[in-house]
Amino acid sequence: MKVLILGDVFGRTGRRMVEQNIDTLRAKYAPDFMIANSENITGGKWPIEKHVLFMKELGFDVLTGGNHVFSNFKDSGDIFSDPLSIQIRPANYSEHQDYPIPGKGWKIIEKNGQKLLVINIMSGTFMNDSVDNPFQSIEKILSGITEKFDAIVVDFHRETTAELVNMAYFLDGKVSVVYGTHTHVQTNDERIFPKGTGMITDLGMTGPLWSSIGHTFESRLPKLLTGTKLFGPKAEQVVGEGVLTGIFVEIQAGKCVYIEKIRIQE
Ligand SMILES: [Fe+2]
Repeated sequence: MKVLILGDVFGRTGRRMVEQNIDTLRAKYAPDFMIANSENITGGKWPIEKHVLFMKELGFDVLTGGNHVFSNFKDSGDIFSDPLSIQIRPANYSEHQDYPIPGKGWKIIEKNGQKLLVINIMSGTFMNDSVDNPFQSIEKILSGITEKFDAIVVDFHRETTAELVNMAYFLDGKVSVVYGTHTHVQTNDERIFPKGTGMITDLGMTGPLWSSIGHTFESRLPKLLTGTKLFGPKAEQVVGEGVLTGIFVEIQAGKCVYIEKIRIQE
């Protein structure tokens, strides 16, 4: 099974980079499945319904998310409730029977006789949301699986690098690929762990190149200079030259046999 996975698609420039490069990427890699992280796809925030459909029309099978989940909730249409929606959100929110969390944390896709499971989890470290322990959560999810899958792919949305590499060790042999999203900077550590789990600490961002991980420097720098939000205008997305990042993986009998970083810069 061949899978193309793109890092956090950010705003208008991110969408344009996907649209302009997807045919070339498909011709080069002939992926059976395509996945992207979409939590910044609408002006840096969670997707509105229109942008989920945009990615679906380009051929994406699953969109994963992260800490911006529900930030555009009023404009999200049916993306959390429609069983055909390709958008998922982190699986390890603290569910309470009186306060059910909309959406699903994983998705199963079957195509051409191949069955893929994509799971989205998130860390609570340096994030605004508190979530259940991601290591214990993914262990619980995996131990509850009774179906057989040709591949299991995990998007672990987190801030720290150590969490991802420990997760790769923890999941080695249990999932096909685990990768990090959220920091928007592609790491140079892609590899296959001894029991067959492919990993990369961060996929990187598909969005504006000359930006503060997607936003204008003018809107981000004052807070970093002064340590207060007093001078920081509202975060504003950059529209301009773009970069597209991700990975291409090949999976055989549930194990990753090939992993390649992708980076296209304008
Ligand atoms: Fe994020």
